[in-house]
Amino acid sequence: MAFVKFQGESVPLEMHKVRIVQKLNLLPVDERLACATAAGNNTFLLQNADVFLDMLTDSGVNAMSDRQQAAMMVADDSYAGSATYARFDEKVREIFGTKFLLPVHQGRAAENILGQVFVKPGQIVPMNYHFTTTKAHITLNGGSVEEIYRDVALETTSEELFKGDMDTAKLEALIAKHGADKIAFVRLEAGTNLIGGQPISLANMHAVRKVCDKHGILVVFDASLLADNLWFIKTREAAYKNKSIREITLEISSLMDITYFSARKLGCARGGGIIMKSEDLYKQMRALVPLYEGFLTYGGMSVREIEALTVGLDETMDEDMISQGPIFIDYMVRELAARGVPVITPPGGLGCHINALKFLDHVPQSQYSGGALASALYIASGIRGMERGTLSEQRNPDGSEPMAQMELVRLALPRRVFTLSQVKYAIDRITWLYENRKIVGGLEWIEEPEILRFFYGTLRPIGDWQQRLVAKFKADFGESL
Ligand code: F0G
Repeated sequence: MAFVKFQGESVPLEMHKVRIVQKLNLLPVDERLACATAAGNNTFLLQNADVFLDMLTDSGVNAMSDRQQAAMMVADDSYAGSATYARFDEKVREIFGTKFLLPVHQGRAAENILGQVFVKPGQIVPMNYHFTTTKAHITLNGGSVEEIYRDVALETTSEELFKGDMDTAKLEALIAKHGADKIAFVRLEAGTNLIGGQPISLANMHAVRKVCDKHGILVVFDASLLADNLWFIKTREAAYKNKSIREITLEISSLMDITYFSARKLGCARGGGIIMKSEDLYKQMRALVPLYEGFLTYGGMSVREIEALTVGLDETMDEDMISQGPIFIDYMVRELAARGVPVITPPGGLGCHINALKFLDHVPQSQYSGGALASALYIASGIRGMERGTLSEQRNPDGSEPMAQMELVRLALPRRVFTLSQVKYAIDRITWLYENRKIVGGLEWIEEPEILRFFYGTLRPIGDWQQRLVAKFKADFGESL
């Protein structure tokens, strides 16, 4: 679970053993360059067969437990009234203390439904920080996003333990300025993804709830990254030190009108759900599930995945399980920071986040330094990370391009997937790249899609920096991959 001390070194310890493995490939550096080029320097477009360590995301790629795999064998495949769904529904009630559940095929499907039902043109959705798909659905329905984080949220190196907290004074001011009617709902995101997997405190959730109660505003909770956030509340928030994960989860859930999640993350399966206490809210959303997802007892998910999710949710209540991600990330972040590599601190959930603005401070942000760093890292190591910066933003309606507030490369550590030696390899190659960072240059578009452009847009390097990076790699590593 937590760290063990071994000859003075702090080492994260796995509280599981590996029983199914997948063979990996590490291509030679020339081939990695060819693959990066073929993928338009967009790590989303790489073939997984060409990737050594896939740190793109934790979405749908967390390791499953033996209990999850076993549960998949007993799934009840019926279109309506599946016993599998009844087990899922029961587990959600037990863990979240809620009454109503709507199944969806993944997190953004929940956002589609929430956006269509609750966001009217001209309305605002205040949130602690946006997520790409969330913002896209809100703007698609004519709404806009207001991020009301505390100033510390954007400090890249910090000791602040809950950078995901919402600034309630700013929330009050926003409501006073626009009126409560203009607010579609307030959205709180667990483990704020785009600012480095930083948690939100339970005290802050209480404070937001209080403000929203005063003005009759709905509170919607994105629990996709709840597992890590639960661990951080338990270990960083003194008032909850002696509470169980189950108690903390129930308390969080009691504060929310609607909780939704991507089960590609929470529950280590693939799917999603929207849960609520109020029958009225349930009925407002219900019709859209058969319309977009599938019948109410599967919501676009395979019943096998629902069985795995049900067990996965139960296992999320286990401290040994939910600590694994955060302690490995903590190790990786601290080791990189000790080598001078600019990483987001304190370590958060989901993965290790490199600050590309600092790492490549000679590359203008308008040349997509985050994207360039992700491409360079793949060439240098075969590791696939994800740009979480300007490329991941959308253009303004007038076509101008906002620079992201944070220009990050995220190296996700899907839960229970990588070993410590693989993490050490990543640390070593990132350190090499940092020492050779001046070689790395920027990127420019080949093809820029209009919506969610980061998923499938293609880019080319500006100049010949990639060839020079490969030459330096060969000079330093010789025949070694
Ligand atoms: N909310 C958060 C906080 C997320 O991180 C994600 C997905 C979603 C909603 C959407 O869920 O993918 O199941 O539709 N994050 C993935 C990632 C894509 O890689 O961070 P989804």
